[in-house]
Amino acid sequence: MSRDSKDVLARIDRDKEGYLEELKDFVRIPSVSTDPRYRDDVLRCSEFLAANMEAAGLEVESVETDRNPLIYAEWTGAEGKPTLLFYGHYDVQPVDPIEEWRHEPFEPTEEGDLLVGRGTTDDKGQAFTHVKAVQATLEERGELPVNVKFLLEGEEEVGGESIERFVREDAGHRLGSDAVIISDTSMFAPGQPSLLYGLKGLAYMEVVVTGPNRDLHSGSFGGAVRNPANALCEIMSRLIDPATGKVLIPGFYDDVRPLEDWERQEFAKLPFDEEAYAADLGVERLSGEEGYTTLERTWARPTCDVNGLYGGYQGDGAKTVLPARAGAKVSMRLVPKQDPQKVGRLFREYVEQIAPEDVRVEIRELHGAQPVLIDVKGEIAEAAMAAQEEIWGAHPVLVREGGSIPIVATFAEVLEVPILLVGFGLPDDRLHSPNEKFNISHFYNGIRTIVRILDRVGESAAS
Ligand code: BES
Ligand code: ZN
Repeated sequence: MSRDSKDVLARIDRDKEGYLEELKDFVRIPSVSTDPRYRDDVLRCSEFLAANMEAAGLEVESVETDRNPLIYAEWTGAEGKPTLLFYGHYDVQPVDPIEEWRHEPFEPTEEGDLLVGRGTTDDKGQAFTHVKAVQATLEERGELPVNVKFLLEGEEEVGGESIERFVREDAGHRLGSDAVIISDTSMFAPGQPSLLYGLKGLAYMEVVVTGPNRDLHSGSFGGAVRNPANALCEIMSRLIDPATGKVLIPGFYDDVRPLEDWERQEFAKLPFDEEAYAADLGVERLSGEEGYTTLERTWARPTCDVNGLYGGYQGDGAKTVLPARAGAKVSMRLVPKQDPQKVGRLFREYVEQIAPEDVRVEIRELHGAQPVLIDVKGEIAEAAMAAQEEIWGAHPVLVREGGSIPIVATFAEVLEVPILLVGFGLPDDRLHSPNEKFNISHFYNGIRTIVRILDRVGESAAS
């Protein structure tokens, strides 16, 4: 029996402005997981989401964890039909630098087709497409063509420890499903739907260099003691070879899975305009590891970047001071076969070895994620791709990404089912940057795509 979803799609057209208003309420809650000052807001956000999902017709449970609640929900009335597990996250990244936002980051603002605000695309707007697709279908028909389960977390942006424990302890019982569907990534380009088959891993480090017991006058004491900020810069300057763009940490590349020929060929076929990309970022030229194209560098080669530097005077104007302490936050983005713990250890050994002897150096590991590569195949993947093509008018391309979603590797390992990374964002959505946005048309088409996935998977097979 073929079902064309027309009934549900028509309902979405009637109800979509209401969905958008609900998304705005979701975005208004500043659920910044890395900053303890937002703890109450994170909790409030989980409550908002749980209530919204319950109103959508799901059976919802808020699962306590050591940190932020997980939201588990399900509708399992489609006996004999496959089960899809939807994953998303309700926490967001900090908003700084706040002065660069055009509006309050937590006051979602429409600018034509854009909804601007922190979390609009990463991941509140995208996760919401799943909830609203289920809601529209249940309201229209009173039932779903497949069984659905949801698992949403509030710690994705800080490494996802609680969900990791939950999924491992569950070992596929409650989370038993036929495929996982995730919308927390982007499409390759406007009008070009994409299915991701690779995400990078991450080892995130902090290096703190300490020297004298207090900040000093940089005239009176400069030249007499080692300056921790100078020492930090020396260390940081030895992480990457400026001539080749290679990471200099011994052993860093040892386990790297090389790009395969077919991947290099497929990447090269994608319509990627280096000049437009550079212009959009406001740089004159692109740079990175020698011997690789930009897509190869960002999707499939490991990298090392300073994410933040502190120490000494950070205010306006000049203060003559020799800081007692200086620090750096460093991310290493990893590719398959690299292990975050091993890379963290290599980083530690190298930094300890190159650090000047007359300062104290502390190295902390903040969080990590395993890299993943997914073998996209099977009936549910075919159904998802067909649904994408129907709604967006183009056949999806297979792509990789430089970002991480820590739980994906664990899903792959524990659940052993296909994982479909069906993103509705765009490359210029400004994830983690000021003025993050989600195209409203993508929000609506995302909901429609999920509706079609539900129907197509329901038609394709009995589990
Ligand atoms: N949605 C992103 C991951 C992403 C970004 C995928 C861009 C594809 C394209 C996710 O929410 C994210 O930002 N994850 C963090 C995880 C980290 C803090 C462990 C990341 O990659 O920085
Ligand atoms: Zn993110």
